[in-house]
Amino acid sequence: MAIKCIGILTSGGDAPGMNAAIRAVTRSAIYNGIQVKAIYRGYKGLITGEIVPFKTQNVSNIIQQGGTILKTARCKEFQTQEGRQIAYNTMQEEGIDALVVIGGDGSLTGARIFAEEFNIPIVGLPGTIDNDLFGTDTTIGYDTALNTIMDAVDKIRDTASSHDRLFFIEVMGRECGFLALNGAIASGAEAAIIPEMQTEEDQLAELIQNGFRKSKNSSIVLVAESELTGGAIGLAERVKKEFPQYDVRVSILGHLQRGGSPSANDRILASRMGAAAIDALLEGQRNVMIGIQNDQIVYVPFTRAIKNEKPINRELLNTLRILSI
Ligand code: F6P
Repeated sequence: MAIKCIGILTSGGDAPGMNAAIRAVTRSAIYNGIQVKAIYRGYKGLITGEIVPFKTQNVSNIIQQGGTILKTARCKEFQTQEGRQIAYNTMQEEGIDALVVIGGDGSLTGARIFAEEFNIPIVGLPGTIDNDLFGTDTTIGYDTALNTIMDAVDKIRDTASSHDRLFFIEVMGRECGFLALNGAIASGAEAAIIPEMQTEEDQLAELIQNGFRKSKNSSIVLVAESELTGGAIGLAERVKKEFPQYDVRVSILGHLQRGGSPSANDRILASRMGAAAIDALLEGQRNVMIGIQNDQIVYVPFTRAIKNEKPINRELLNTLRILSI
């Protein structure tokens, strides 16, 4: 069946570049003669019927804006069969033949279940600062968040070195160390403590053993938010107890990492992926996430994108170790 009308939504945590993706999906669809309906507040909008037809003008002047003009939500009701049935009924009433879902792994998990249950063509775009989706080198929002972290750490370094302090800076990532590891390399931090390594070694013990200040008086350690590592607060408590000679401080960067105008890389990535989502639907692809590998657009089945753990590049850990002597 030819697709005449698509619905578009953003779901889960917002990420810089989502608006660039909304713009690209909308304009590519219209260019190809497909009608666009914007669904507000993620899957919730499909349940409440908060849906607006979009023209090209609806996405003017948004490429540079952070957040998502469609709003977003984590929708509990959509996790139930009854909720998804209401969502499907809404799609039927609105004449929506296919969906483009922009979000992270929770949102794409919802998309996979919905697509299977009701036999709906759905294409996903990886929109999350965490970079934790398998099958794509990067996700929309990751590069901007990394730059935000780098700017914040640069500032903290000024005060850390003025006071000869040891800083544990916690970054987002939800049990995933990409932001912490690459943020540490980009900001010249002494170390990164990430959940992927915690199962293999006590990273703090190793740091202390190697003397993490070395020739310097101040140190900066980036910590991925994680229960496994104990987070920045847990690690700082440990150091205070075991090594009271250190003047320790904690800084949790929090939601500022999710905001701001998207970087050029994120705008380009979102634009390419948004256009590719429409190409995929026109080619008859369904239930795939658009990914990027070695600068080439690829289609990744939802089951692979979500379930597989995206591995951390261990060479990066080694580079960080070498460069922090
Ligand atoms: O998935 C994006 C993310 O920012 C994670 O890094 C973080 O753990 C989570 O969302 C925070 O979610 P919320 O904004 O709902 O507190």
